Amino acid sequence: MNIIFNQFTHVWRLLTSPEKVVSLSLPMLLACLAILAAIILFVFASALALYKLKTKFLREVQTSLLTRYNELQADHKILGSQYKRATNAPAITHLDDKVWHEEETDFIFKLNEQLSLALERNAVAKYIVESVHNFLNVQKTVLILREHGTKTLKIIYALGLQKPTTEEFSLKEGESISGFVIAQNKPTLVEALDKDHYFKAMNKESYLEGNFISVPLVFQKDAIGVLHVCNKKNNRPFSKSDFSFLVNVAKVGAIAFKNIILYEQINESYLKTIAALASAIDARDPYTKWHSENVTRYSVAIGKEMNLNYQEQEMLTRAALLHDVGKIGIRDNVLLKTEKLNNEEYEQIKLHAAKGDEIVQSLSFLKEASLLIRHHHERFDGKGYPDQLKGHAIELGARIIAVADTFDAMTTDRPYRKALTLQQAVEELEHCKNVQFDPDVVESFVKILKRTPEILSPPHK
Ligand SMILES: [Fe+2]
Repeated sequence: MNIIFNQFTHVWRLLTSPEKVVSLSLPMLLACLAILAAIILFVFASALALYKLKTKFLREVQTSLLTRYNELQADHKILGSQYKRATNAPAITHLDDKVWHEEETDFIFKLNEQLSLALERNAVAKYIVESVHNFLNVQKTVLILREHGTKTLKIIYALGLQKPTTEEFSLKEGESISGFVIAQNKPTLVEALDKDHYFKAMNKESYLEGNFISVPLVFQKDAIGVLHVCNKKNNRPFSKSDFSFLVNVAKVGAIAFKNIILYEQINESYLKTIAALASAIDARDPYTKWHSENVTRYSVAIGKEMNLNYQEQEMLTRAALLHDVGKIGIRDNVLLKTEKLNNEEYEQIKLHAAKGDEIVQSLSFLKEASLLIRHHHERFDGKGYPDQLKGHAIELGARIIAVADTFDAMTTDRPYRKALTLQQAVEELEHCKNVQFDPDVVESFVKILKRTPEILSPPHK
């Protein structure tokens, strides 16, 4: 080793000497080259060893990290399933919450849009119950309203109940769970009625069972009803989202029903005014004392039998009550004449249809009824007055009033004849089908008379 070192030192001196004189013997040169080769080989081997060591280390680190990652992932899955079991929520909770929220918002928006202009309580109740029932996928949905005046609670529409339960249902104010929810103005979630001694003891509603939510319909602190949803069809319990969703549905429903109640109250006042006016007209002639009332009762029954919608029935009621309002302008000596009218007098009487139309046209709430009043003496064969309309060109309401008007005239005493019997009057109506009257209207009325002959005997008679 010393010899090699000495030779290497000697070579180094020669190379770095200022004289730059190179006088190497061949053996020495070979020795130097061998030394250099050994050095290069040593460096290369060391680098190779270091590279292998580093690769092995990195591989071990990577394996360790992968193992830890897999362990963490397994822990996450266990925690996820435990959370799902605990909350009964889907694994991807945040995403589902977002989807649910959007669906709920859409539902409330659509509900509000549908109900904002609705004025018929049964149609509104049906829409709310059916849409909530399907949206929450529940076994039963029941909508109860407090009756105006009596304050008793009545089912207005329900799904999932047996029909007798719906028809027989009636509760006093404050009674049972419905009464409690309305009186307390408090939305309530019952997880299991059997285990809830407080609500179980007060319950008188057989359809309430298991897991249910009851929310009051409140408008400006006035609870007007209650909405119940019972048991989800997939047997999952109701969530907080279901609860807040129903509270929002009840808010929209309460506004709709409050509008309807106000509309009905205004309508009632209008009808009372019209009825008073009609009575004043009828009172001019003792033989027609209850005529307007009778014609209205028959017309409303025919309208229902022929499935007229709510607005059509409203219009028909008003028109029937006021169908002879134009007689105000007919002189007593003509109107009250008991003998046969001459042609001129008859022409004067005929004017009452057009005069009635003119009188009510100026009142906005009667404008739609004016054409029915104008055309209640038109005939199906086109030979009536004042416009000689024919067949279905005559408004259905006017065709109905025509049948009701003639039937009442036939079944009440007149100065020149006694009232016909029910059988005779029905035969006369049948005889005049397609000539004076719409056959469909006559058939509907005959059905009513056969089914409910007591329609002829109102309380005042
Ligand atoms: Fe008339």
